[in-house]
Amino acid sequence: MTIKISDEETAKQRGFAEKVREINQKLEAPPTAHVHTFGCQQNVSDGEKIKGMLAEMGYGIVGEPDGADVIIFNTCAVRENAEDRVFGNLGALKHEKRRNPNAIIAVCGCMVEQEHITERIKKSFPHVSLVFGTNALYTLPELIYGQLTEHARMFSVPKSDGVIAEGIPLRRESKILASIPIMYGCNNFCSYCIVPYVRGRERSREMNDIVNEAKTAIENGAKELLLLGQNVNSYGKEHGTSFSELLRQINALDGEFRICYMSSHPKDATRELIDTIAECEKVTRHFHLPVQSGSTRVLREMNRKYTREDYLEIVDYIREKIPDAALTSDIIVGFPGETREDFEQTLSLIERVRFDSLYTFIYSRRKGTKAAEMDDPISEEEKGKWFRELLDVQGEIGMNLYEKYVGQTFRVLCTGTGRTGSGTLTGKTPQDVIVDFDGDEALIGSFVDVKIEKALNWALLGKITD
Ligand code: 5AD
Ligand code: SF4
Repeated sequence: MTIKISDEETAKQRGFAEKVREINQKLEAPPTAHVHTFGCQQNVSDGEKIKGMLAEMGYGIVGEPDGADVIIFNTCAVRENAEDRVFGNLGALKHEKRRNPNAIIAVCGCMVEQEHITERIKKSFPHVSLVFGTNALYTLPELIYGQLTEHARMFSVPKSDGVIAEGIPLRRESKILASIPIMYGCNNFCSYCIVPYVRGRERSREMNDIVNEAKTAIENGAKELLLLGQNVNSYGKEHGTSFSELLRQINALDGEFRICYMSSHPKDATRELIDTIAECEKVTRHFHLPVQSGSTRVLREMNRKYTREDYLEIVDYIREKIPDAALTSDIIVGFPGETREDFEQTLSLIERVRFDSLYTFIYSRRKGTKAAEMDDPISEEEKGKWFRELLDVQGEIGMNLYEKYVGQTFRVLCTGTGRTGSGTLTGKTPQDVIVDFDGDEALIGSFVDVKIEKALNWALLGKITD
């Protein structure tokens, strides 16, 4: 059962934050904290909460671990190389602990939800004094208070199907982009994926809480709202509402802003949802629809609950309803038992769909998942070859894809200073395509009309028209 954290519990945590603040105020200089977030947008969003709580406790947030009084690694478990990077970085902190024995070194996030990882930290990383799971995140003030007063190692990874904690202070990374979690966890159990084991069952925040957070973000100057969940398309099922309804409500809020969301599951990308997106002018014209494989046989083994044909039907419907939509996807190469024929089905699917871009991954074995038990006869070397082949095919598709935008004018959200060297500013079209153009830095954070003059492989160049 999902537990919504009670107001009393939230107030109790605020009380601990106050106590930590009092301890910190007695120090000669204000203490500092460093948070290193690995992985996806959901983790980045958790990182904003961690920083928000630390700031409330009186810590100055710093960009480097050197000399910080609290160092927190907010980890990702989705692939092995993400975990290896965390262990590498953690090992390097041994020196920091020697230099600063009072530093509190903590690890949280998806990795520590796996018992074998927590055991490894216990045994091999004695300089880590605090470990807390995703469901204990909101108790950070209590945990830090415990660290400051008891000086003992603490492992707080409560077994739970997942909690929802409202009212945690936030320290947003960006003024322009506001990440707003709308649901947590995942029920899909794709056979390769560790997420359902480390993030618990699907649970949606209440619509009012989300809409109010969106309103506040817009009032504070946000121009892009990123609605987050492992599978946003199944938002609201337990409250008798839907993602379409949430989009409609946020779309109706006053102001010029854009609504983005991630991640989606094709099995829930219904016609109703696509119709809603077509009608809601503030919703991004970008569909990130992870297909994972073009082979129906592999999709079945992956437990994805759609076929190659189902997927293509969704793509065709999107193209019919929103002809200017950009499409992107995630692909896994080398799933256990995938044959050359299966892989060729993936190649033919990407040639048929012509995605704007792809996020491609070589299959990574995750202990405890179903796929981890499957026969995996193809060598890593062979998988590497297929992977490069896939990149080549997509590279070819992407080559002239942006040419179609030349001559068109788009409402562009200016997000920062330019990167190509050919324009001083950079921004995003409604399709989430990057465009660089010249203009005054005062325009950062506002919408401008930009006429596209040139297409590069990965970005556009244009000129402001208004
Ligand atoms: N191996 C490789 N890629 C994975 N993904 C998730 N789990 C694995 C794994 N075990 C990819 C999927 C997903 C994206 C976020 O990460 O493509 O859509
Ligand atoms: Fe993992 Fe599948 Fe859930 Fe995405 S939908 S988090 S790939 S189990």
